[in-house]
This record gives sequence, structure tokens and C-alpha cells, in this order.
Amino acid sequence: MCGIVGYVGMRASQDVLMGGLKRLEYRGYDSAGVAILSTDGGLLAHKRAGKLSVLADDLDSRPLSSGTTGIAHTRWATHGAPTDANAHPHLADGGKLALIHNGIIENFQELKAELVAGGEEFLSETDSEVAALMLAREFRTHSNLTTAMQAVVGKLEGAFTLLAVHTDAPGVVVGARRNSPLVVGLGDGENFLGSDVAAFVAYTQKALALGQDQIVTITPESVSVITFEGDPVTPAEFTIDWDASAAEKGGWSSFMAKEISEEPEAVANTLRGRLGADGVVTLPELDVLFAGDATISRIIFIACGTAAYAAMLGAYAIEKWSGIPVSVELSHEFRYRDPAVGAGTLVVSVSQSGETMDTLMAVRYAAEKGAKTLSICNTQGATIPRESDAALYTFAGPEVAVASTKAFLSQVVASYLLGMYLGQRNGVLGESESKKLADDFDALPAQLEEMVETGPRIKELAGWMADTRSVLYLGRHVGYPVALEGALKLKELAYIHAEGFAAGELKHGPIALIEPGQIVFVIVPSPRDPSSLHSKVVSNIQEIRARGARVIAIAEKGDAAVLPFADEVIQIPLASSFMEPLLAVVPLHIFGMELAGAKGLDIDQPRNLAKSVTVE
Ligand code: AGP
Repeated sequence: MCGIVGYVGMRASQDVLMGGLKRLEYRGYDSAGVAILSTDGGLLAHKRAGKLSVLADDLDSRPLSSGTTGIAHTRWATHGAPTDANAHPHLADGGKLALIHNGIIENFQELKAELVAGGEEFLSETDSEVAALMLAREFRTHSNLTTAMQAVVGKLEGAFTLLAVHTDAPGVVVGARRNSPLVVGLGDGENFLGSDVAAFVAYTQKALALGQDQIVTITPESVSVITFEGDPVTPAEFTIDWDASAAEKGGWSSFMAKEISEEPEAVANTLRGRLGADGVVTLPELDVLFAGDATISRIIFIACGTAAYAAMLGAYAIEKWSGIPVSVELSHEFRYRDPAVGAGTLVVSVSQSGETMDTLMAVRYAAEKGAKTLSICNTQGATIPRESDAALYTFAGPEVAVASTKAFLSQVVASYLLGMYLGQRNGVLGESESKKLADDFDALPAQLEEMVETGPRIKELAGWMADTRSVLYLGRHVGYPVALEGALKLKELAYIHAEGFAAGELKHGPIALIEPGQIVFVIVPSPRDPSSLHSKVVSNIQEIRARGARVIAIAEKGDAAVLPFADEVIQIPLASSFMEPLLAVVPLHIFGMELAGAKGLDIDQPRNLAKSVTVE
């Protein structure tokens, strides 16, 4: 959950490292620090609690060094409060060695006890400092940073990405990873390391993704990778499909505002090349799942947070279009309930970052039980897709704001494509329905643009609700995951109690929450919906209005039945039932952002959160 950067080459490493941290800050922002090998053979380090700007201000007034080798870290605290002492890098060997760490070393207490018994002094409360002191000891034995790292990682348990430099190894950065991300940026006379490609995309779009239990040694002219056992490895090279400008705010007031505006493009990019005008879905990356005439008799989605709500929408669609039973489970619950998983089960993980530890562990569990695994992911080279049998990438581009928006829509679209693909493979989804869906998808980006344009109206609504203490969201069928997603956005952005309910659940308890002035968003099904859910939801609106609720209805244009009972109506274009959730969610994303803005809160980096939860 931390951001880490390493550099070796011809540039002043401080600029490269700080620029990389800036693009990784969304991974954690409790403290930050830099260590650089200076040109006179020393090691200079500076670290500060607080956001990256605190460190940057210090370095602006007192630059650290012109050295061209260094490492840097922005932290999301796990062990030890966000203080200067607990910030990374951690120094050892008399200040000659610096180490940074992302993850949790689960056996650090026993290792720390051994070090203390051996006379080592600790300056921090962190698990990471244990690795620094161990590495210093091993370096004094081996006099080689790579070999010393190899000795250390063999004793560590848990999740870690480690980077280290030493004054006696000039021009070298060594990294190691287990259960935590590390990618290599390949330059000309320079090389980079990072938690994800955002760390170095400003300098190169050529990258390598390190695998589990691997150690990488970079110099200006070389990149060498070995396993923890010392066997050489050649990781696959890949090209990053976006540039640094895409990872900048580009004039928007927040990354979230920028990313909401990109929702139509994210959907268009995820569809591109996969869905013909005739409705035929082409996903060659999934062929591997059917090798040897393998069949899929059951699908289980695993995901967390917003990704789980995308999975819920996908589950409705896949079961309808393919006839395959589908369930959705929270990753962190899945493996602890001893699920009946085995051959014939396809476990589909949904993850924007591809590094969510709860989801990664659930994927590993499923694979161990003999299930096939498919990753729907937005981050190339991330751990979850690399460890899955197949990956269906979304192409939403970098999503920097902690609150997921465009990635959510692209996850839904990818899972819909999966449903069409499976339905066409097993003959359940016919040509005419496929063609109709293709037409629906074709209209979707423009309709999403229309929803993005509701921004000013939503901002006005948020303005007069800035002091509200509670908001409820009601939805039914595919509107239910939208209600859950809308509530999550308000919780994580505006720090307001918000809850999403299945509308049918109202009379089984939640209606007791309704009192005069209670704000309730209601996602209303289409009046053209033959299943008559529309009339049921309109009845729900009447029931809560009768008890004083202030109702904001999200309803289809021309839906006259809603007008007499809603205080506000946000209209969505006419669309098919599976497309409507994608349209209805946009004003809820905007509302969460605008209410946070009205309260003067940090929209891109809400308190206590990080973009990628890489600890369990
Ligand atoms: C979404 O707005 C939240 N930031 C959070 O629920 C997120 O969706 C969840 O942590 C899963 O992240 P992932 O998609 O990277 O796995």
C-alpha cells in the first residue's frame, strides 16, 4: 500500500525519485522519504511525516544531493504511527545502507528480538527497519548487495517489496518482492524500479513485471533478475499503454473529476476491438480457459469494495446471457468459509489495481483448489492478472483518485463482455440478442457523456446538502449494486453515514430509518421494464415520501410516474436494463465528489484510505 521508486542512471536521482513519488502518492500518504548515494561516496537521506509536499518543501529549500542513484518511498502506515522516525528509508550499517519497504513482514517480532539480543538498536517502531538491519549484517558478510538481499529474504515471512542501496555498491539498486508489487522501467543508460509503472512512465514505456519471490539488480546499463534461490530469470517485457500526461490532472480540480469525465472513454476503450457490430464478442485472451475442452459449470466473482459492486452487475448479466450459475463473494470472506471450489469452477477476480491483497490471496486459494482463474484488471503487469490463468484487461487508463469511478464502469463492461462471450460459446445467447446488445453498447459512450454533463446540477444538489448527516440509497435488481456503490462513494469521500439497500428490503427494517428530511436516492427501473419492477419501486418512493423523506430519483427520461413523488429527478437516457446502471451511477459518483468538495475535504486522497489495499 506504499509507493516505492528506485533509480540508477545519468540524471539527478532526486528529481526522478520525487516525480515518481508524486505519481505514486495515491498509494499512501502518511510520510515520505528519499535516500541518495552522493557523488562523493556517501549516502544522504531525508524523510518526513505528512504528505509528500512536506518532504518536497524541505528538499526545495535544501536539495539532498546530485547523486544519480537512489530510492524513495511514500508510506501508508501499517506498523508504527506516521512519524519522521517511522518514515522510510530506514538506515543501517552506520548510515551506509538505506532500505525501503512496501508490505508487512509477519515474523518481524521474532527477527527483531534476535537483532536486539545481538546488540542492534532500533530507531523506529516499524517492521521494515528489521529488514534494513538484517541486510546490513548480511552485506558485511557477503560484501555484495544482491547476495545479501538473497540471504535476508529467505528469512522473511509475509508480504514485502524491498529496495536497497549501499555506499559500497555505487550505481546499484537491488529490489526483492514477495506478495507485493515491483516493476522495472527499462531506459537507455538508466533503469527504474517502482510499485507500479506510474513511478517511471515519464521516462520510459518499456517495463518488466517481476514475479513472486524474485530479486532484481539494476545498474545504468543492466537489469538482472534471479529467484530467491539464485536461479536467473528473464521476465517478460511489456509496453505501458499510457503516458505520463495521462497520469497528471490535466487542469481538472481533482483526479476524480478528471476520471469521471473519462468514464465514456474508459467504456469505449474497454469495448474497442472486442465487440463486432454483429454482436460477436472476440476475447482470444480467454481461449486458454477452454484448453483441452475444459468446461465452466459455475462462476464465482471475488472482489472488494467498488469492484465487488461491478461484479454484482456482471453476475446478473452473465447468468442471464450464458445460463451459467454465478455468485459474487467478498474476497476477504471467500477463502475462510471453505467454499466448494474445484475443476469446472471459474473464479473471476475484479480489481482495478490488481494488487488488492485480499483478492490476490483468494485467487491463490481458488487456484490451489483446482479452479480456473480469470482476472478483470486495469493495471498491466499487476500481480493478480500475472498469477491468474487468464486476464481480461480493462482500458480505463490510470485511475489515481482513491475513489474508483471510470474503472468501475470499465469493470462492468468487461464482465458484460465475458457474459456475452460465454453465452455465445455455449449457444445460450442468440444472434439477434447479441446484435441488440451491440447496439446498446454502441450508444453507451454518448449517453455517458450526457450523464457527465449533469455535473453542475448535481453540484447544486450537493451544495444544499453539505450539512446532511445521513443519506440512503435504494435500488432493485441491477439498481441494487448501484445503490451500494453510491453509498460507498459518499462514505469514502464525504465521511457521511450512507447505506445502500435493495428496495424490496425497505419494509423488512430499513423503513424505520425514514424520518422527516431523510435524504434518499432512488434508482428507478425503466417504466418500459416488463418485469414491473418500476411500479414496485414507485410504491417504495410513495412509502418513504409519506414518512417525510426527501427523494432524489434517478429515472428514465419520460418517466411521468415518478414526478409527483420525487423532490428531484435526475434523468437518464432511454437504455436497456443492463446499460441503465452504468448511466445511473455517474450522478452518484459526481454527488460523492461534490459533497466532499462542499465540505472542503480532500477528494483524491480521503482520510484513512489508499488506492490499493495491499495488506490483508
Ligand atoms: C472504491 O472507490 C474504493 N477505493 C475501494 O472500495 C476499492 O474499490 C477496493 O479497495 C478494491 O480495489 P481494487 O479494485 O484495486 O482491487
